[in-house]
Amino acid sequence: TTTRVGIVGGGPAGLMLSHLLALRGIDSVVVDHRERADIERTARAGILEADSVRMLSETGVSQRVLTEGDRHHGTCLAFGGEVHRIDFQELAGASVWLYPQTEVFADLADARAAAGADVRFGVRDTTVHDVTTTRPAIRFTGADGRAHEIRCRYLVGADGSHSLCRHQIPASEVRQYRKEYPYAWFGILCEAPKSAPELIYNHSDRGFALISQRTETTQRMYFQCDPDTDVDDWSGDRIWTELQARVGANGHELVEGPIIDRSVLRFRSNVVEPMRHGAMVLAGDAAHTVPPTGAKGLNLALADAAVLAEVLERALATKDDDVLDEYTRRALDRVWRSQHFSYWMTAMLHRGPGADEFDLRRQVAELRSVVRSTAGATYLAEAYTGWPAR
Ligand code: DHB
Repeated sequence: TTTRVGIVGGGPAGLMLSHLLALRGIDSVVVDHRERADIERTARAGILEADSVRMLSETGVSQRVLTEGDRHHGTCLAFGGEVHRIDFQELAGASVWLYPQTEVFADLADARAAAGADVRFGVRDTTVHDVTTTRPAIRFTGADGRAHEIRCRYLVGADGSHSLCRHQIPASEVRQYRKEYPYAWFGILCEAPKSAPELIYNHSDRGFALISQRTETTQRMYFQCDPDTDVDDWSGDRIWTELQARVGANGHELVEGPIIDRSVLRFRSNVVEPMRHGAMVLAGDAAHTVPPTGAKGLNLALADAAVLAEVLERALATKDDDVLDEYTRRALDRVWRSQHFSYWMTAMLHRGPGADEFDLRRQVAELRSVVRSTAGATYLAEAYTGWPAR
């Protein structure tokens, strides 16, 4: 097979890019080693920035995000015994939508399938070749058990934080900036009505907790845990006792219900510069990972796809590969601001391993400074609802 753009990775970054390229009349092929059903079953984040929602609805991927997504005009920070609301509409004139990544993925996969796109899930033994030439290749074993090769003009690695494409780049050709965090989240899905109409980011002496939602009958919650936590050590009772203790410190209470999914999420920051090597570019988690606090990961992946579609169209038209450097420059501006925002939210809300009374009181003072200052709260609202495209 030959195509203009070969894409490794059929998550939101890869599928959105394939969709946006098709709108510009540019063909692409997407391969992913996972089965579609496995991707749809993996619990991921749930908050979309205003521009992400616009991209999904206005380019024809999803109307469901508008009808089934839940528009949030603000969010809550709970600390020091009280709950404080940050009003996104009032401060930044924007909202976010609670619409799970699994639904974003399903809408993208459906839209690509309806358009007759070449998207191959469940392939094995994927390798990439000749990425510094004008004819890079993706090789893999197909679902049919046969060996396949896709030749393309440009190759996109949108294959997640463990990216095989990124690992193809010689260490001397890129710089990687990494940060490890002494935090992790214990995430649950439970069958219960909503405990709150909007998200609650909860600081407490016992550590952070996040109250989120999924539907009228299933809810998503997280609490900070040790990165080495074994989910099997946590019974439903123990989980609810811990969550209630953390939110109870700030005067609210959760509606409990059966826990239907549990997992531990580790925290990491990573940025690769440049996001290009020859005729190969990286997008989404393959190029950058953020800690989950603030829900920037999926939004960054979609923003990458928007810039990349535009830049790839220009590169194909001008036959000048150096046009791709503009992608790195524009994407990294947002990536680093998101790294900072996610780091800041994380550091302000989590209990560090060596935290003492001083540290906890200093954090509460920082949170109080943010909510009591129009400037501080506005920064949080602007960053959370998403910066405009540049
Ligand atoms: C969710 C996850 C996040 O990391 C966040 O900041 C907000 C919401 C969620 O999964 O609902």
